[in-house]
Amino acid sequence: MSAGEAVAGPGADVPRLMALAERAARAAGALVHGQRPDRLEVDTKSSPTDVVTQMDTAAEDLLREVLAAARPGDGLFGEEGGRRPGRSGLTWVVDPIDGTVNYLYGLPAYAISVAVVRGDPAVPGAWESIAGCVHAPALGETWTAGRGEGAFLDGRRLRMAEPPQLPGALIGTGFGYRAARRRHQAGVVAQVLPQVRDIRRIGCAALDLCLLASGRLDAYYERGLNPWDMAAGQLVVTEAGGRVRGLGRTPPSEAMVVAGRDPLVDRLAQLLADLDAAGPD
Ligand code: IPD
Ligand code: CA
Repeated sequence: MSAGEAVAGPGADVPRLMALAERAARAAGALVHGQRPDRLEVDTKSSPTDVVTQMDTAAEDLLREVLAAARPGDGLFGEEGGRRPGRSGLTWVVDPIDGTVNYLYGLPAYAISVAVVRGDPAVPGAWESIAGCVHAPALGETWTAGRGEGAFLDGRRLRMAEPPQLPGALIGTGFGYRAARRRHQAGVVAQVLPQVRDIRRIGCAALDLCLLASGRLDAYYERGLNPWDMAAGQLVVTEAGGRVRGLGRTPPSEAMVVAGRDPLVDRLAQLLADLDAAGPD
């Protein structure tokens, strides 16, 4: 039995799941990066700023094909194609392009996020990631993680260093797509900014989490994330020695995700709770 299987449960061959997550993510990465068309067809989703291109859809189709061929009994939950139930208790949670706005503008901070989770990924706190990969083809960097097996950047093991105190911390965050939500988020970030080293808005939640695990951010918070934005990245953070939480005693969810190492992660969560960062809109 592998270390991963001991903590991830029977039947969870974590190294093999990690390898499959990486293989699928790299295949999708080769498609979106290597075969990027000159003209992207752009459609909108939840708001005029929430975009999807033909490459998001094509990459998700490819992920579905690769994962279903290798593990026909597992479920699949994807940003573009919705949910297909499985019977193994494991579900692949995929974002074919996290950071679609960056992709559209030719900015390199986008990634393919592939994770396999146990439990129901639609219910906050009712699932846990077992293995995952965040592949950023335009940056040429690939993160992998497996429960009990560790987190890796291009095969090198990651170990998060002691964090600075809040005034010295570089904090990543992001904003939702609806105007009212953004107005509230802008008010919160205006209060956070004078209390920290600086803020980064990279535009790809999966990468934010991986950059945090790699020491390129000190902490990260965002409201409005979906399971596919965080399922792989949060495992990279926790396996690198960090923690991912919500506000108060809540698990990370759409309401709020706060990530970092102790004690900074708790200090930031307290500040966000004081600022009512998870409400009202
Ligand atoms: C978005 C990105 C962005 C974050 C948004 C996400 P998408 O994902 O991760 O950084 O701020 O909350 O929805 O739409 O590009 O897949
Ligand atoms: Ca996406």
